[in-house]
Amino acid sequence: MIDKELVKKRFSKSLDTYEDNAFVQREMGAKLISLLEKKEFNTIFEIGCASGLLTKQIKENLKYNSLTANDIVADAKSYVENIATEFICEDIEKITFDKKYDLIISNACLQWCNDINSTINKLLFALNDNGILAFTLFGEDNLKEIKNLFNFQNKVCVSAKIFKEETIKLYFDTPLDVLRHIKLTGVNAVQEHKFTKSTLKEFEENYKNLYSENGKVYLTYNPIYLIIKKNDIV
Ligand SMILES: C[S@@+](CC[C@H](N)C(=O)[O-])C[C@H]1O[C@@H](n2cnc3c(N)ncnc32)[C@H](O)[C@@H]1O
Repeated sequence: MIDKELVKKRFSKSLDTYEDNAFVQREMGAKLISLLEKKEFNTIFEIGCASGLLTKQIKENLKYNSLTANDIVADAKSYVENIATEFICEDIEKITFDKKYDLIISNACLQWCNDINSTINKLLFALNDNGILAFTLFGEDNLKEIKNLFNFQNKVCVSAKIFKEETIKLYFDTPLDVLRHIKLTGVNAVQEHKFTKSTLKEFEENYKNLYSENGKVYLTYNPIYLIIKKNDIV
């Protein structure tokens, strides 16, 4: 089970540092928008807007009449209130939609759902006819170096057809830089981990031994892109 309180805590702490460190997520957002066949929508709903990385890309690249931004973290509101028409603070798994949208979009968020498949069904129901659900999330190989060393699983099972999947490696000077990157982007929201001096040293040594290339250490990202048209599935 995803600890939603931990998700809130991690992401509210990283709102200020997220965009300067979320290199992969920025590319994912741009690619997601480029994959949309249509660029004009009446109403758009964005899930998990955080500091507005995708929200700004939507503003720059899409035409719309209204844009509703959502996040489970209340502080996200102040980051998007100048861009979005309205902000709804709610867990997307708990939200009840009182209207329908033409585009529901989300970047790097839905992997934090406990039940992704019923969330997708709910989102499809919240689309107007011919509406589009477009989102990215991370697959099983995401941050696999960290998962291996800390021995935790974060399985995401999506029964919808995957549109596109990628593996991206980011390179860092040291394992400590990897940890810093993870902290600044908030993507360490799955599990709390406290190091002692000796476990930190052990982590650094293991990371260097297992995940080095050309004098650098790497961290894997595994983005998945899904675009579902409402008419494709009904
Ligand atoms: C990695 S950030 C992605 C930010 C942004 N969408 C982007 O394009 O980079 C994930 C965001 O999703 C939010 N989030 C996580 N679980 C959520 C949920 N169940 N409902 C709504 N927002 C959620 C987090 O608070 C965080 O702000």
